[in-house]
Amino acid sequence: MTSFQEKENARKKAFESIWETKINAVFADVAATYDKANDFASLGLLKGLRRRFIATIDVEQGQRVLDVCAGTNVIGIELLKKQPEIEVHAIDRSDSMQEVGKARAAQQGFEIKGHICDVHSLPFPDNHFDVVTLQYATRHLRVIDVFSEIKRVLKPGGSFYHFDMLRPSNKIIEEAYCLYLKGCLKTVSWAIKSGPEAKACCDYFVDAIRLFYSTEELSHLLSELGFKDVTGRSLLGGTVAMHKACKT
Ligand SMILES: C[S@@+](CC[C@H](N)C(=O)[O-])C[C@H]1O[C@@H](n2cnc3c(N)ncnc32)[C@H](O)[C@@H]1O
Repeated sequence: MTSFQEKENARKKAFESIWETKINAVFADVAATYDKANDFASLGLLKGLRRRFIATIDVEQGQRVLDVCAGTNVIGIELLKKQPEIEVHAIDRSDSMQEVGKARAAQQGFEIKGHICDVHSLPFPDNHFDVVTLQYATRHLRVIDVFSEIKRVLKPGGSFYHFDMLRPSNKIIEEAYCLYLKGCLKTVSWAIKSGPEAKACCDYFVDAIRLFYSTEELSHLLSELGFKDVTGRSLLGGTVAMHKACKT
């Protein structure tokens, strides 16, 4: 755990002030256009990847699900389409993202119970959820703290599903990917007329990938935190990966 703790300390030192003072303003700024901007920036790729992620998630009638850093509720809505007889909770710090998410869920006839708070401390009892999901947000978090909280609120036998952009373990792919991301973020923030907060964070979004985990490292970290049957599936040269981890 020491090497992971060292990496977490380095991430915290580099990004803590951005996490605490800027990230919320960025998501407030882009909330209304967030889903469209993602599709545009990824040339529709994200939608396909999300479908693949959702397909890996087992949800059964009567289960209680928590989507961590739920944003505009894309995951909760897709899970309810897959199995309408589940109870879905969404937690996120951004009022603006959750407002959009609440409206999107209601439009499609779904109810998602929203909780506005920082996910480093989850306001739920131990052993409470059958399934926990977390997509596209871990770069902005203290990973050991949040994953430990997720493990605490999962029931024994429950599963954690994680999907995110990661740091490719191949250095050449990492360089090409960061170059692409930088260009892409600048174009998107110009196209959707982002405010100054979002524009200023373009470099941070790329730096956060550089200091982040590879697929293998994230699998290893989950195992060290006591999750069992950890699987990590790397896609697109390791630029994104899907992980599943169980609590026994
Ligand atoms: C890139 S969005 C991803 C949203 C959603 N999971 C998706 O896949 O579309 C990241 C989300 O993480 C949330 N977030 C970032 N740091 C957070 C924190 N410390 N506590 C709670 N939410 C946080 C942001 O408000 C934002 O809604």
